[in-house]
Amino acid sequence: MTLEIIPDIASLRARLAQEKNIAFVPTMGNLHAGHLHLIALARQYADCVVASIFVNPLQFGANEDLDNYPRTLAADCEKLETAGANIVFTPTVSEMYPTAQTMRITPPPIANELCGAARPGHFDGVATVVMKLFNIVQPQVAIFGKKDFQQLFIIRELVRQFNLPIQIIAGETQREESGLALSSRNGYLSASQKLEAQRLYRTLKLIADNVQQGNRDYRAIETQSSQYLTQLGWMVDYISIRSALTLMPANAEDRNLVALAAARQGKTRLIDNIEFSVA
Ligand code: PAF
Repeated sequence: MTLEIIPDIASLRARLAQEKNIAFVPTMGNLHAGHLHLIALARQYADCVVASIFVNPLQFGANEDLDNYPRTLAADCEKLETAGANIVFTPTVSEMYPTAQTMRITPPPIANELCGAARPGHFDGVATVVMKLFNIVQPQVAIFGKKDFQQLFIIRELVRQFNLPIQIIAGETQREESGLALSSRNGYLSASQKLEAQRLYRTLKLIADNVQQGNRDYRAIETQSSQYLTQLGWMVDYISIRSALTLMPANAEDRNLVALAAARQGKTRLIDNIEFSVA
């Protein structure tokens, strides 16, 4: 199967008019096995799998890595073809934003917590571009990775609150054998930082074990874990134990939990999370 590469909205719409059942995987490129897992998942839901590759300026803060974000289109297309995608939409910035995007999606207040606290406006940018991509591709199913747990939560709210006829499917986080979650940003890590980076998921697992063994003092666990990583040279943005259903800080009644973390190794910001339940 040959991958069709379509950079403009009019051609994409014309091509997709023949399709009844579309599964969509939006990405920012620099694809790794985590993305390819989402493509494989998409294949289970539709005959036509559409991916997009667009590094969305709207979701990057002024001092973030927009200009340096890795752009690896040729390699990405090869990987998409092998993974079984039919079409990749590869718009330029001016194709997506021919004029200033002054109409924006305002996500719910949860978007200002966790990753949103360190990245003001980030989820407005994500929700706005995802809404545009949904309107362009008009998929029946869209797939998002669980590594970006807060993003997945906000996209589910977008679909629910705007009554979009799209089923959102969550793909499991893909990990190296060490437990390190696959991420485009791992490419920025030095060898020693990469070794240390394994500790992020190990710490989240320790938190889950600790809670499952009966410790319900969530705020103390968060502080201790954060201090532990800080002592080891991490710059911790947050470690937070939350309800997996509402993303509110977990309380003793919550049964389905998620522990989320964002922390930096040098300049590289890594995020990860673990879902678990308590009896
Ligand atoms: O998760 C990402 O790669 C991006 O946030 C997304 C969903 C493609 C929107 O730009």
